[in-house]
Amino acid sequence: MRYFIGNWKMFGVPKSINILNKINSFHSKDKNRKKYRVIITPPYTLIETFANYFKNKSISIGSQNCYQKEQFSSNTAAISPFMIKSVGAKYTLVGHSDNRSEGDTNEMLKNKVQFALKNNLRVIFCIGENKKDKKNKKTFSVLQNQISKVLKKKFNINNIIVAYEPIWSIGTGKIPSKSELEKTIIHIKKVLKKLFKKKNFTVLYGGSVDGNNVQMFKEIHEIDGFLIGGASKSSKKFIDIIKNYYR
Ligand code: PGA
Repeated sequence: MRYFIGNWKMFGVPKSINILNKINSFHSKDKNRKKYRVIITPPYTLIETFANYFKNKSISIGSQNCYQKEQFSSNTAAISPFMIKSVGAKYTLVGHSDNRSEGDTNEMLKNKVQFALKNNLRVIFCIGENKKDKKNKKTFSVLQNQISKVLKKKFNINNIIVAYEPIWSIGTGKIPSKSELEKTIIHIKKVLKKLFKKKNFTVLYGGSVDGNNVQMFKEIHEIDGFLIGGASKSSKKFIDIIKNYYR
């Protein structure tokens, strides 16, 4: 199964549902539709409307983040996994670099993953090295650390998707080379295998994915799909990624 996940970040108002409508009608008619899933993570304000609207359709809705407590608490503006699940989301991102840079620690991320899973949300766990780590050839150890500090053996890995997003690639138009990326994805799967004693994992790539470079990514069979930021805000760009992937 492949995944095409659109992360809208701080984008979208109720009428932006038109974008999803176009993606949904493409997906529902696509001859390859059984091979992949489409998930969109709009801002919190739109989750309920979108999740209701797409309830019996092909698109699934997820959240971009969740708070590190389970149900209700006295943290102003916080939104828990329980609350996200209650409005129809099926997935949540955890550990996006935007949130890590705003203070999310491994301990917080561990709680987020734990409580999200407990509330039957599937987790899309984001990891990635920054420019300096890459320059100092620390990519592998950074990723290993990000995984082992957050993903605990007792977590149900079947409900966790790992998204590898090099921070230097997010929103920059820069992407890793094919051989570099292939090695990194294999490394991530190796780390997961050691931790969970299992064979198959879902590992996505994210960072400046578009309709042109997806041709290169598709040659790396270890990549199980994509987390798409900028290009997910346009139905045409998002659909082009899927079309070119299966061409
Ligand atoms: P991008 O964002 O596709 O715009 O690089 C990816 C992400 O932040 O998830």
